[in-house]
Amino acid sequence: MIRLIAAMDTNRGIATDKGIPWKLPGDAAYFESQTTTGLIVMGWATYSEFSAPLHDRDNYVLTREQSRLRSGFESIATLTELMKSHPNKDVWVIGGAFVFAETIDRADELFITQVLEDFHCTKFFPDYRSGFTRFEQGKDQEESGVRYRFERWRRSIEPRIGL
Ligand SMILES: NC(=O)c1ccc[n+]([C@@H]2O[C@H](COP(=O)([O-])OP(=O)(O)OC[C@H]3O[C@@H](n4cnc5c(N)ncnc54)[C@H](OP(=O)(O)O)[C@@H]3O)[C@@H](O)[C@H]2O)c1
Repeated sequence: MIRLIAAMDTNRGIATDKGIPWKLPGDAAYFESQTTTGLIVMGWATYSEFSAPLHDRDNYVLTREQSRLRSGFESIATLTELMKSHPNKDVWVIGGAFVFAETIDRADELFITQVLEDFHCTKFFPDYRSGFTRFEQGKDQEESGVRYRFERWRRSIEPRIGL
């Protein structure tokens, strides 16, 4: 199964030019707890913001430059390549905007932290509402004055691209 996990604001914004504009420890804990099993896939720009790989997980980075990663990260050229070499593994796509846009057509589920405010982002999660149906919605919660909730969405129409 391919799952995308993202936190987004009311305009589907996921980051400004300076990175993710909110600090939500509850969301970070949720991310950790959800992604403990399966392969982690991220884009090069997201990778470059990590000081270390996500512990106890296999960290894969989509990049055309295969030889420049730090220890603990492995490069892949395409998601298809990874799925072929790990046919029975679940995949968590963790961003950023470029990689979400490239992979959403193949996603089975979306784990969305819906931040209930506009942060004037410059990078966005793709439009997903027509292809997915929400099947879980957590209670609204608040941290540092920012309200948010956890949602899960499942594909409601067949992926456009097969594996
Ligand atoms: N709010 C959230 O949930 C969330 C989650 C994650 C990240 N973010 C934010 O998103 C921002 C980064 O997003 P972004 O769109 O700029 O970058 P990104 O998606 O993290 O990375 C894009 C790069 O990944 C490589 N790449 C992507 N697809 C590829 C493919 N199919 N084959 C080969 N290489 C591929 C390319 O780099 P090469 O030039 O190396 O080929 C591309 O320039 C950051 O600010 C981060 O903080 C937010």
